[in-house]
Amino acid sequence: MKSQKTLFMTTKIEFNDLNIRAKKYRSEIKKLIDKVIDSNYCLNGPENRKLEKNLLHFLKNGFITTVSSGHDAIFLTLKSLKLNKEDEVIFPVNSNPTAFPIAQTGVTLIPCDVDKNGLIDPKEILKKLSKNTRAIVVTHLYGLVCDVDKIKEIIGDKNTFLIEDCAQAFGSQYKNKSVGTLGDFGCFSFYPTKNLGTLGDGGAIWIKNKDFYNYICLAKYYGEKKRYYSRFISGHSRIPEIQAGILNIYFKNIKQELNSRIQLAKYFYKKINEEKLNNYIVPLDNNYLSPLHLFVIKAKKRNKLIKYLKSKGIPTLIHYPYPIHLIPAFSYLGYKSKDFLIAERLAKNILSLPFHPMITKKQVDYIFTIIHKFYY
Ligand SMILES: Cc1ncc(COP(=O)(O)O)c(C=O)c1O
Repeated sequence: MKSQKTLFMTTKIEFNDLNIRAKKYRSEIKKLIDKVIDSNYCLNGPENRKLEKNLLHFLKNGFITTVSSGHDAIFLTLKSLKLNKEDEVIFPVNSNPTAFPIAQTGVTLIPCDVDKNGLIDPKEILKKLSKNTRAIVVTHLYGLVCDVDKIKEIIGDKNTFLIEDCAQAFGSQYKNKSVGTLGDFGCFSFYPTKNLGTLGDGGAIWIKNKDFYNYICLAKYYGEKKRYYSRFISGHSRIPEIQAGILNIYFKNIKQELNSRIQLAKYFYKKINEEKLNNYIVPLDNNYLSPLHLFVIKAKKRNKLIKYLKSKGIPTLIHYPYPIHLIPAFSYLGYKSKDFLIAERLAKNILSLPFHPMITKKQVDYIFTIIHKFYY
């Protein structure tokens, strides 16, 4: 019998650490703002260069450029491939934010079903591959890592680019290499809630090939090399200096934070066992012991569990409740229910629990006590 004491939480449980982290670094952030004011650079200044250096040091090899967001990172990557509308891009049907920038480039969208962990399924890629496939975008969803070697094997020597959407996977490793550096391009997001997230928008692209890097560096500034003498039509895409500076501050502690995510996930697995929840909730397989961005479980009676947790002050989210073929924006693709069985089944069963380096053990204990109470 658990004591009543453990069933109350005095501190509010946050789904993520967005405001907690910013408060922790408040005084450094204030100093940074002063520094940026004095520097006369709002955009494209020393903080961006420092961030690119930090990122390159972390990711190794290749080239890095900062852009406005993870969305732009994918969009500009595809723009650099200069694709036409008959060109096909394969991507996982369950990663909503991945689909939008691909659709905005005007290429032919080829959504693909996923495996039981919500990651693009190489067997399904094989079925979707055609002579028009120009790129495969793999999303390392939740921080889990896709079966990259298998996907590379499928690509073989075809003229098909491998793009990694690492928006949710900053810090995940695959066979001792950082995700984002395993293919031709790695797209990162610094959206506030991400493993490395700022207090606004931000993104970056890791690029293997210098020619593509040179192109993207122009594409993010109106296609300009010489000021006001654009070589091609493009928009702009940049991280404000203050946001880049905040990321540089957070970078100092990033290894510890990523490690806390790894340790925290282990603690979650332990609690699932301790509370005898294995027959009710199943966490997705974290084969590479990644610093997860989201702790996602498949849960029996998922919707009732969500309500119960909410009533006990435990916030949860679903990432994502609808695979893209079932949302109105993508109805033009002509797919219907049951076209992507695994993704559809997952959407009905998955649930993301509060998970971030600032959560306390006491809070985690409370969460699992409450889940236990729900099922028993
Ligand atoms: C998997 C994935 N891809 C792309 C994005 C887009 O990133 P951003 O919000 O920085 O544009 C996100 C962020 O929500 C994401 O989770």
